[in-house]
Amino acid sequence: MLKVKSLNVFYGSVQALHGVSFEVPVGKIVTLIGANGAGKSTVLRTVSGLNRPTAGSVQFNGEDISSLPPYLIVDKGLAHVPEGRMIFSNLSVRENLKVGSYRRKNHRALPADQDYVFSIFPHIAERLNQQAGTLSGGEQQMLAIGRAIMSGARMLMLDEPSLGIAPILVETIFQRLIELNERRGMTILLVEQNANLALQVSHLACVLESGKLALSGRSRELRENAQVRKAYLGH
Ligand SMILES: Nc1ncnc2c1ncn2[C@@H]1O[C@H](COP(=O)(O)OP(=O)(O)OP(=O)(O)O)[C@@H](O)[C@H]1O
Ligand SMILES: [Mg+2]
Repeated sequence: MLKVKSLNVFYGSVQALHGVSFEVPVGKIVTLIGANGAGKSTVLRTVSGLNRPTAGSVQFNGEDISSLPPYLIVDKGLAHVPEGRMIFSNLSVRENLKVGSYRRKNHRALPADQDYVFSIFPHIAERLNQQAGTLSGGEQQMLAIGRAIMSGARMLMLDEPSLGIAPILVETIFQRLIELNERRGMTILLVEQNANLALQVSHLACVLESGKLALSGRSRELRENAQVRKAYLGH
């Protein structure tokens, strides 16, 4: 579904990505793990059109999207749940969900998608009129995922959904991501620093080190890999 080929990305004179290539097959959960500053967010931002590569390309469903603006990439069915959630804190929960769907041309599926978001995140359904900035971190993460679903996406990219969230809610959120994948066929690219968790829920994994792809393969196999265990799993 997604093909990232030989991406080079710079911030000024600093090169953040060095020839990064990987693929996300349709219907799979792929995780991108790596230490602070490895370039994980830069990969997602580049796929979303928020950063521009100086070399390489991004294909989504066989189409080159490397030069499209972010809103047209959302229209293609690829939604980004950004690092830090980036919900609109002065809008209500209901308004945040509405913002997620504002580009949709066909409104017929909206009620069903909204019901679906409410069914996986009942917390959100109970707080529709609440100002989003007053939600807990975990609830804001649920809202950010709900907002992305409301765009009609067929693929979600999530940037560290577990960061700064109470462990009990992290478990709920990851359970819901698995359900989204299994029951709705949502393809998922998941960026995580919590490698243990990420390798448990994903089918395939890529390890990013200093802007380069260091390793990739089946998550089950990477969990047994001595290098991965030592560097990322702490055992
Ligand atoms: N806006 C920016 N301007 C300059 N350098 C940046 C910018 N954003 C990121 N970088 C640098 O690019 C590199 C990759 O950063 P990136 O945010 O992609 O890493 P990351 O793997 O997502 O890290 P983290 O786990 O901390 O979120 C880092 O060296 C970072 O300092
Ligand atoms: Mg990041």
